[in-house]
Amino acid sequence: MTDPDIKKGLAGVHADTTAISKVNPETNSLLYRGYPVQELAATQPFEAVAYLLWHGELPTADQLAELQAVERANRSLPDDIRAFIDAMPTSAHPMDEARTVVSLLGSFETAGIANVLDAAGTPAENLDRSIRLFAILPAIVAYGQRRRRGQEIVEPREDLGYAANFLWMTFGEEPDEAVVDAFNRSMILYAEHSFNASTFTARVIASTLSDLYSSVVGAIGALKGPLHGGANEAVMHIFDEIGSADAVVAWLDDALAAKRKIMGFGHRVYKRGDSRVPTMKAALDTLVAHYDRPDVAELYETLESEFVSRKGIYPNLDYPSGPAYSLMGFDTLTFTPLFIAARITGWTAHIMEQQASNALIRPLAAYSGSNERHIEGYVPDA
Ligand code: ACO
Repeated sequence: MTDPDIKKGLAGVHADTTAISKVNPETNSLLYRGYPVQELAATQPFEAVAYLLWHGELPTADQLAELQAVERANRSLPDDIRAFIDAMPTSAHPMDEARTVVSLLGSFETAGIANVLDAAGTPAENLDRSIRLFAILPAIVAYGQRRRRGQEIVEPREDLGYAANFLWMTFGEEPDEAVVDAFNRSMILYAEHSFNASTFTARVIASTLSDLYSSVVGAIGALKGPLHGGANEAVMHIFDEIGSADAVVAWLDDALAAKRKIMGFGHRVYKRGDSRVPTMKAALDTLVAHYDRPDVAELYETLESEFVSRKGIYPNLDYPSGPAYSLMGFDTLTFTPLFIAARITGWTAHIMEQQASNALIRPLAAYSGSNERHIEGYVPDA
C-alpha cells in the first residue's frame, strides 16, 4: 500500500510561496504578478513582461527604454563563445547546445570568483546576469538553427525590438508584423508558470547557494524532457507522422492501442484545459491565414477533437505552439530552445526570489530497499 505521506511527483504539494505567478486551474487563469497572461500577450512587448517578472511592476516608458537599451547592447555572440559553438557537432541536439553555451557563459562571466561562498552573487549582480542571458539567448538559438542549415550568422539589428530581432537573426529577413506579433505572444505565454519542473529545478539548485548559471543549466536539462518543454518538439513529430487530417482517426487508433502518450495534451495542474491555449491558438490561426495553410488548422483541430472526445484530456500550450513555430519557419528541433529563450525570464525571477528568502530544498524519502545486512566475514576494528 502507498504511504499517504508520500506525494509521488510532488503532486498537489505546495513547496513554498511565490509572488511571481498564480496558476488557478479552477478559473483556468494564469496571472503574472497579478496580470492575466492573455492581457499581457495582447498589449505588451516581451521586454516589458520580462521587466514585470523581475521587478513586480510593469515598466514606465523610461524603464522599458533602459531595459531595451541594455538588451540591444548585449545581443551579439562574443567571438570566443562563437568559437566554442562552432566546435560542437551540428548533429548535437540544440537543447544540449544551448545548455552547454549557458554553462560556458557562466564560466566566462563569473571568472575570478574563486570562493564558493561568493557563488550565489548579489541581487544586483543576478539581475544583471539575468538581463544578459535574456539578451543573448536569441543569438544562441538563431545561430544554432542557421549553423545546422549551413547558413552564415546574421548579426542583430539594434533598430528592431526583441521579437522582430529574434526572427531577423534566425531568418535574415525583416519579418512581417503579423508574425512578429504571434512570436511575441508565444514568448509571453511561455515566460512563466510557477513551480513547473524546470523552474523547481532552478530553485533547488539556487537553494544550495550555487550560482545563477548553474541553476539555469539545470533548468534547461529539466525542460528538455518531452513530458515538459520537449513536448513542443514532440508535437511536430506527431504532426509529421500523421501527415493530414484524414489520417488522424487511424493514427490515433494505433497510438492509443499502443498506449502512446499524445504529446501536447494533458497537464499536471490544469485538468480542464490550459489557460494559455486559447491565446496561442488565436496566434496560430493568424499564422494559418498569413501563410495560407488551412491544412495545418485542419490537422490540429481534427486531432484535438478526436483525442479530447476519446480521452477527455485537453491540449496544453505546446500543442498550438509547435505548429505555430513550424509555420514561422523554425526547424522542429529549435522549438524547445525557443521555450528556453522565453522561460529564462521566469527562471531567473524565481532564482532571485529563492535567494531572497532561502531554505535549502531537501525533502525526505521513505526507504524501500533491503533490510540492514552485513558484509560476510567483516570484523569491525576493535
Ligand atoms: N496522452 C495519453 N494519455 C495521457 C496523456 C497524453 N498526453 N496525458 C495523460 N494521459 C493519461 C495517462 O496515461 C494516465 O492514464 P492512466 O491513469 O490510465 O495511467 C492519466 O492520463 C494520468 O496521466 P499522468 O501522466 O499520470 O498525469 P500527470 O499529471 O502526471 O501528467 C503530463 C501530466 C506529464 C503533462 C501528461 O499529461 C503528459 O505526459 N502529457 C504529454 C506530454 C506533454 O504534452 N507535456 C507538456 C506539459 S505542458 C508544458 O510543459 C508547457
